[in-house]
Amino acid sequence: MEQSKIPSRGQWGSRLVFIFAAAGSAVGLGNIWGFPMNVAQNGGGAFVLVYLFFMFVVGFPVMLAEMVLGRAGEKNPVGALKNLKKGTPWYLVGGLGVFTGFVILSFYIVISGWTVFYFFQAAGGNLILPEGTAEAGVYFEEMYESMTANAGYEVVFMGIFLILTAVIVAAGVRTGIERAIKISMPLLLIILLILMFRALTLEGAGEGLKFYLVPDFSQLTFGTLNMALGQAFFSLSLGMGVMITYGSYLSKKENLPTSAGQVVSMDVVIAILAGLIIFPVIFFTVVVHGGDLDSLLMSGMGLVFQVFPQILGELPGGDGAVIFFSSAFFLLLGIAALTSAISILEVITAHLVDDWKIGRRKAAWLSSGAVFVVAIPTALGFGASAFFTNLPFAGGMSVFEVKYLLTFQILLPVGALGLSLFVGWVWGIPNALKEIQHETPTFVLKRTWCFMIRYVAPIAILIVLGSNLVSIFLG
Ligand code: TRP
Repeated sequence: MEQSKIPSRGQWGSRLVFIFAAAGSAVGLGNIWGFPMNVAQNGGGAFVLVYLFFMFVVGFPVMLAEMVLGRAGEKNPVGALKNLKKGTPWYLVGGLGVFTGFVILSFYIVISGWTVFYFFQAAGGNLILPEGTAEAGVYFEEMYESMTANAGYEVVFMGIFLILTAVIVAAGVRTGIERAIKISMPLLLIILLILMFRALTLEGAGEGLKFYLVPDFSQLTFGTLNMALGQAFFSLSLGMGVMITYGSYLSKKENLPTSAGQVVSMDVVIAILAGLIIFPVIFFTVVVHGGDLDSLLMSGMGLVFQVFPQILGELPGGDGAVIFFSSAFFLLLGIAALTSAISILEVITAHLVDDWKIGRRKAAWLSSGAVFVVAIPTALGFGASAFFTNLPFAGGMSVFEVKYLLTFQILLPVGALGLSLFVGWVWGIPNALKEIQHETPTFVLKRTWCFMIRYVAPIAILIVLGSNLVSIFLG
């Protein structure tokens, strides 16, 4: 019967591949598009410090906890929690993770589709301001609007992106994901360094660095703390079982605390590097072309798609430089998004494979098809349809905003809280330590980690979650 068709589970070729796959998941739109946007809107250097604090104090412990769960449970989040605590409803936390992944992917691919669209625009020279155009701002505004108001474009480009993701996931852990990671991560680093070098040598770069790196604590509010924690979880891909699933493909010989530390560090480094590109470039346009700093910093979601291309068009070096740097930038964004989307689709696929005994190929294409359908209203909500742009039952928010806020402020924190409680109190520290110390008898941060996963992480999450709920439901 069907039983004989259960596919054997994959395994990473080496620990390095695992690190890069996990870092590839973590490094995504969240680092290159979301992080600079949040830094810009939340007062610069002070936000960066708070974010770093959360990354290491809450992000690292939860990252390690997820990896431990995955390797001990040897399955996707649902199957892993079932294996570790049989006969209890804790697997529902894993189920919530799979659901969260579904929601995230259904808005993530819309923005990813934009990167594909912009990459083609950039490579085709369309980001060069045409001769005789009076105002760059208007030109780029129109480009952005023609994309978002035209559902056809958006759906086609997100479709291209999703198909690429599904092909890789359908091919399996070794032949699909591992190969894609081995090509994309080095490429991503190279492009990032080239762009950073260009940005840091621009006029005005120093001003940008000052805003970005010198904290002004008068800018800190409770809202800043909130955004910083949400950003930390999203950026590390925590709270929905990506690291459980990736950890389940890791050999029992490998060192988990070091792996978790390396993934967090890589994610931090790449977010910081992305800021070293964006802020010098913003201040370049302010200093050299008289751009209005406040409106640039507050341009939000459009920062990377509306404002940034416009500035790239002003770079010294003529049309060749514009084509080169703008294509490189959107390629960078696209690769980062791809390795992240792969990890989300892998969680859903692994769940279908492990727990529903569906073949990998079928599972990957089924889940992509479902995600695609649910993503369409999100794409329409960027101006193509008045209804989805302005949901009457959600206080006039767009479908995108609803999904984004729902994951950022509720689903991911609830998931991370559930997983921390599970490891700290239910499955228990002794079991977790057994799994870790199996190959790392000298786990130096043992006491610190136990304290953080039992007390610090849950309490920090509860505070932030509580305040989110209050502000969402009580205005
Ligand atoms: N971490 C990715 C980013 O920064 C996005 C992402 C991938 C994610 N997998 C996730 C976010 C799981 C939350 C949960 O863009």
